Amino acid sequence: MYKYDIHECHATSLKASMAAFLSSLLIFSFFSFATSLTLNFYQKTCPAAESIIRKVVVDATKHDKTAPAGLLRMHFHDCFIRGCDGSVLLNSKGKNTAEKDGPPNVSLHAFYVIDNAKKAVESVCPGVVSCADILALAARDAVVVSGGPSWDVPKGRKDGRISKANLAALSGGHTIGFSHCSSFNNRIHNFNSTTGIDPSLNPSFAASLKHVCPAKNNAKSAGVAMDPSSFTFDNTYYKLILQHKVLFSSDNALLNSPNTRSLVSKFASSKDAYVNAFVKSMIKMSSITGGQEIRKDCRVVN
Ligand SMILES: *[C@@H]1O[C@H](CO)[C@@H](O)[C@H](O)[C@H]1NC(C)=O
Ligand SMILES: *[C@@H]1O[C@H](CO)[C@@H](O)[C@H](O)[C@H]1NC(C)=O
Repeated sequence: MYKYDIHECHATSLKASMAAFLSSLLIFSFFSFATSLTLNFYQKTCPAAESIIRKVVVDATKHDKTAPAGLLRMHFHDCFIRGCDGSVLLNSKGKNTAEKDGPPNVSLHAFYVIDNAKKAVESVCPGVVSCADILALAARDAVVVSGGPSWDVPKGRKDGRISKANLAALSGGHTIGFSHCSSFNNRIHNFNSTTGIDPSLNPSFAASLKHVCPAKNNAKSAGVAMDPSSFTFDNTYYKLILQHKVLFSSDNALLNSPNTRSLVSKFASSKDAYVNAFVKSMIKMSSITGGQEIRKDCRVVN
């Protein structure tokens, strides 16, 4: 739950990211990426890797309910910039500001889980398992601990050597478990000259948003953040779209075209349909590769 008592916000922003992610895959389907990823990539070289990573994610979640949302967001963020190459994990160095320190970095707080997983894996099979693979596996485990589906993750990604904050700006917009009032202020204050509130918002939802983000605090509210939080994997987001209880106009816009509207209805009424689409999309997204090495420390290039 957020610190604020708008429970819809919680459901909205994480699932919004997932939906944004499903739509973004349409972009990726224009590219064909030859990939040599395989399910049994570490079978000989590090057979314990998957179970070690799973344990680290499960343990982290016991103390930190925000960890799963953080891991999933990090994996999305990693893959959308230069492919899934662990670039999101790199620290800034000298004059280079890394992705993690760029503007949309705000809820990328689960690095420590990857550090723990990397340490544990290195102690068993040093120099074998890439940080990009660890992140892909941890993201899958994050979905599982949140009540979502499990799937086999193809492996064999390499880690990249470049991470630039200005590239991170490309992935802006939706973030998991995080939103600024400024991202939806236009829908609740002075929408246009005839109406203050976006008529596509459910009125009581709009009222609760105004309570959290009052017009007077607009100057300050640029910094208002909703902490990443625990999430439960389900199709609530799509139900909320149909109820007009979503934060962003871009979420509501999914109702505007017949294609996306029918997907929203389909996912709202069938969790299975959503789960299937989600898993297919995850595998597809996380197969975009781009790295060159197996990093020793996920935060620095070799
Ligand atoms: C996000 O970026 C800011 C600087 O823009 C930095 O101070 C902060 O530590 C970064 N957060 C994380 C989690 O890396
Ligand atoms: C304000 O928005 C509403 C709903 O979209 C629309 O019906 C109305 O025409 C708009 N008014 C102006 C002045 O644009």
